[in-house]
Amino acid sequence: MVKKIIPLAVEIYNSAEELNRSDAALLAKARAVTTQAYAPYSNFNVGAAALLTDGTIVTGTNQENASYPVGICAERVLLSAVASQFTGMGITTMAITYHNINGDSSTPISPCGICRQSLTEYEERTHQSIRLILSGMQGEVYIVEKAQQLLPLSFSAINME
Ligand code: THU
Repeated sequence: MVKKIIPLAVEIYNSAEELNRSDAALLAKARAVTTQAYAPYSNFNVGAAALLTDGTIVTGTNQENASYPVGICAERVLLSAVASQFTGMGITTMAITYHNINGDSSTPISPCGICRQSLTEYEERTHQSIRLILSGMQGEVYIVEKAQQLLPLSFSAINME
C-alpha cells in the first residue's frame, strides 16, 4: 500500500487591495455583476468574471427558477457563455464572488461540485488551466492555480476510453 497525499495550494490575501491590478480588476467586475444575478429564492447573488486568453472579460451570474433544480450557478452560466461566444478559447483566470442579501459576504466561496466538474472539463478541452480568484464582497481572497486542483481524482473522458 502506498499513501498518496494530493496537495492543494491556496494563496490567501487579506483583501482585494493586496491583489495585482489585473486580478483586482477582474474581481471588481465579478463583484459588480452580482447585481445581475437572478436569485429571488436564495437571495444569494453570485457573480463570476472570466479573463480569456485574448484579454476579453466575460461575466456570468446565477440564474434561479421556481423549480429549484432548474437553477444554474454563475460559474456554469459563464462557462456556457464563453463556450458559445468564444468557442475553443481558453480562460486564464476566473473570479467568483457573492453578495448574500440575508447575511455576511466576507468569506470566500468556492465552486460547488458540479461546477468543479464543468470547470475541469473546460480546462481539458481548451488545454488551458483556469486560475480561480475566490472571494466575497469584501474580506479575504483565495487564489487557486487551477480549477482541477479542487477536484482531485476527478472523472473525465479519459476514463471511458
Ligand atoms: N451558487 C453559485 O452560483 N455558485 C457557487 O459557487 C455556489 C452557489 C448559486 C446557486 C444558487 O443559485 C445560490 O448560489 C445558492 O446556492
